Amino acid sequence: MRPVIQVSGLRKSYGRTVAVADATFEVNEGEIFGLIGPNGAGKTTTMECIEGLRKPDRGSIAVLALDPFRDVYKLQNRIGVQLQQAQLQKRIKVWEAVDLWASLYKKKSVDGDRLLDQLGLTDKRNAWFMNLSGGQKQRLFIALALINDPEVVFLDELTTGLDPQSRHAIWDLVRGIRERGKTVFLTTHLMEEAERLCDRVAIMEHGRIIDIDTPANLVLRHCPERTVVIEVSDPAAAEPFNLIPRVERVERNGSQFTIYGRGDLVTEVIHFLSENRVRVTDFRAILPNLEDVFLKLTGRSIRE
Ligand SMILES: Nc1ncnc2c1ncn2[C@@H]1O[C@H](COP(=O)(O)OP(=O)(O)O)[C@@H](O)[C@H]1O
Ligand SMILES: [Mg+2]
Repeated sequence: MRPVIQVSGLRKSYGRTVAVADATFEVNEGEIFGLIGPNGAGKTTTMECIEGLRKPDRGSIAVLALDPFRDVYKLQNRIGVQLQQAQLQKRIKVWEAVDLWASLYKKKSVDGDRLLDQLGLTDKRNAWFMNLSGGQKQRLFIALALINDPEVVFLDELTTGLDPQSRHAIWDLVRGIRERGKTVFLTTHLMEEAERLCDRVAIMEHGRIIDIDTPANLVLRHCPERTVVIEVSDPAAAEPFNLIPRVERVERNGSQFTIYGRGDLVTEVIHFLSENRVRVTDFRAILPNLEDVFLKLTGRSIRE
C-alpha cells in the first residue's frame, strides 16, 4: 500500500497553547482515514498543517510526496478541501458556486452538472445557498471539494449539526469517493461516524495520537469484554452456563441471565445454546464500541 500522507513528529503551538504536541501517522492510498478525538484535541490544526494552511513548529509532512507548505500551489490541484459554511455568500446559486470553483483551478475540472447529479443536488441547481438545508449545504461543500478531481479529499467534521438521515446520506457519498479510488482524510468527534465510515482511525487527545488501527481492532485490543443477555423458558437449562468457554461470570434475574466474558464469548454462547437445544425467548449481545475504547484509553467520555 502506498502512503499518500506521511506525518512524523508534528508539533504546532499557538502562542502558549500547544495544539498538536506530537503526531505521527500515515494515510494509505484509497482508504478513509479518520482523525478522531474530542473538541480541542488538535484535529483541525493537524489537518490544516497537512493541507499547507499552517506551518508546523516541528516535524515533517508529505502529501503525495510533496511538502504541503513549500509546494502548496502544486498540491492545490491534487487535493480537495471541504469549505467551512461561513465562506459562501448567501445569494450565490448552487451552479454558480460550482462554476466559480471550477474556474479556480488550472487543470480541467470535472463535469459540474454530473457532480451535482452524483450528490443529489440537480433539483437545487438554481437555488440560493441560503435556501439550502444543512445536509444540502454539506453536499455542496463535498461537490466543491471534488470539482478538481482530487486524489486526496479533506473533510473536517463534515456531518456536525446534521440530522441522522442527512448524516447517513453524507456517509454514503464519502464511501462513493473512496469507490472512485480516492483517499479521504477526515476528522470527527462522533464515534459512530468513525466506526461506520473509516477504514482506520487515529485517536487523538491533548495533541497526541494515542493509538491507530481499524475500529474493530481497536475495540478488540482495548475492550475485549463481551456480554450476552438471554431469557430462557426453562431456567434449569441455565445451570451449566458458567462452564461455557470464555465465560467469566453469570448473573441471574428470574429467567433472565447476563453472561459476562471476553473474546469469542458470543460465538461460544450461541454454540452452547444450539448444542444443548436451550429454548431462548430473548437474546442480546452487548458489544463495546469506539466510545468505550476512548473511555478506556483516556479515563473520560468523549462527550465531556
Ligand atoms: N487559531 C488559533 N489560535 C489560538 N489557539 C487555537 C487556534 N486554533 C485552535 N486553537 C487551540 O488549539 C487547540 C486545538 O484546537 P483544534 O486543532 O481546533 O482542535 P479540534 O479540531 O480537535 O477541536 C485548542 O485548545 C484550541 O483552542
Ligand atoms: Mg476541529
